[in-house]
Amino acid sequence: MSSVSFQAILRTMTEIANSFSGAALCCALAIAAAQSQSPTIVAPTLHGELPLVIGHRGAAGHRPEHTIASYEMAADFGVDFIEPDLVATKDGVLIARHENEISSTSDVAEKFLERRKTKIIDGQQIIGYFAEDFTLAEIKKLRAKERLPFRNQSWNGIYEIPTFEEVIDVAKRKGAAQGRIIGIYPETKHPSYFRSIGLALEPRLLATLAVNGYVDAAAPVFVQSFEVGNLIDLSKRTKLRLIQLMEDAQARPYDFVLARDRRTYGDLMTPAGFAMIASYAHGIGPSKRNIVPQNSDGSLSAPTALVADAHKAGLVVHPYTFRDEPEFLALDYRLDPIKEYLQFYMLGVDGVFSDFGDTAVRARNLLLR
Ligand code: G3P
Ligand code: CA
Repeated sequence: MSSVSFQAILRTMTEIANSFSGAALCCALAIAAAQSQSPTIVAPTLHGELPLVIGHRGAAGHRPEHTIASYEMAADFGVDFIEPDLVATKDGVLIARHENEISSTSDVAEKFLERRKTKIIDGQQIIGYFAEDFTLAEIKKLRAKERLPFRNQSWNGIYEIPTFEEVIDVAKRKGAAQGRIIGIYPETKHPSYFRSIGLALEPRLLATLAVNGYVDAAAPVFVQSFEVGNLIDLSKRTKLRLIQLMEDAQARPYDFVLARDRRTYGDLMTPAGFAMIASYAHGIGPSKRNIVPQNSDGSLSAPTALVADAHKAGLVVHPYTFRDEPEFLALDYRLDPIKEYLQFYMLGVDGVFSDFGDTAVRARNLLLR
């Protein structure tokens, strides 16, 4: 295929993605494939490569999140990266949990009833059981449980809570067995809070990564954070690639709240904001709703300029979170998560955080036909 006709097909598919019609997009992919003499159709990502699939909390749609079984399953699905969220134990070990309050995803309340506490975390009062009040030996007595009631509960009570080191081990072991590189995509959770209690996450994160040979931009690692200050600080200490996470436009990074900096994520999601982020980060991790907004009736709006604006600043875009279930899927996709992936792939996202790496990889394969 000539580069001219390839670009024309890409333009057509991108236009269809912008005015989303799942059937039309699948049709465009099929036509493009039929017209192509080359088997490869590449989505309009920043660097012209296929979008990455990031196993969000492992394969959280299939196994309890942040367990070795979940990460192994994601690796077996063919994801490019596995994603541990990180908090610290009382003795300073990084473990994989989505938040430091661990009763939603473990049996801690059954085993350590007396450890229940009330704390203020990032300005919110939280009642529960906190990772930083337990040693690693105590954490290892716990077993994970499924967070979401509509997901399979039959894996509850089986799996340990893994350390960050054990998650890295999965990436290395599965990568070696499969003859490919599987990356890791750690997130610092509540970094200002952990620093305030003498358990800063960042030095422990960098030390663990360095011991495992992950030291520069070529390493299969992205480090992510919803806060800004810790990423700026990390950018001065490491060459590893950093990703600025973003929430709703009205929300503020919690370190901004602490510093009485009135800027919101919305202020960061502008050309000027992206230029600032590009001074310390490799890319951004926005909510998918910042790319394809959802109306109050659940229907989808036209895509925003976020991907194009971020790309203009040289930033890759890795939106979260893609999930198969009807509880999470906009009605426009008519119960077919493949349609959602194809829309975002053709909008040019450079990766997706997915609870269902199997579906994300299957959808990505359609780009290659
Ligand atoms: O890190 C990307 C995505 O995971 C952010 O959302 O809340 O699932 O950590 P969360
Ligand atoms: Ca995360």
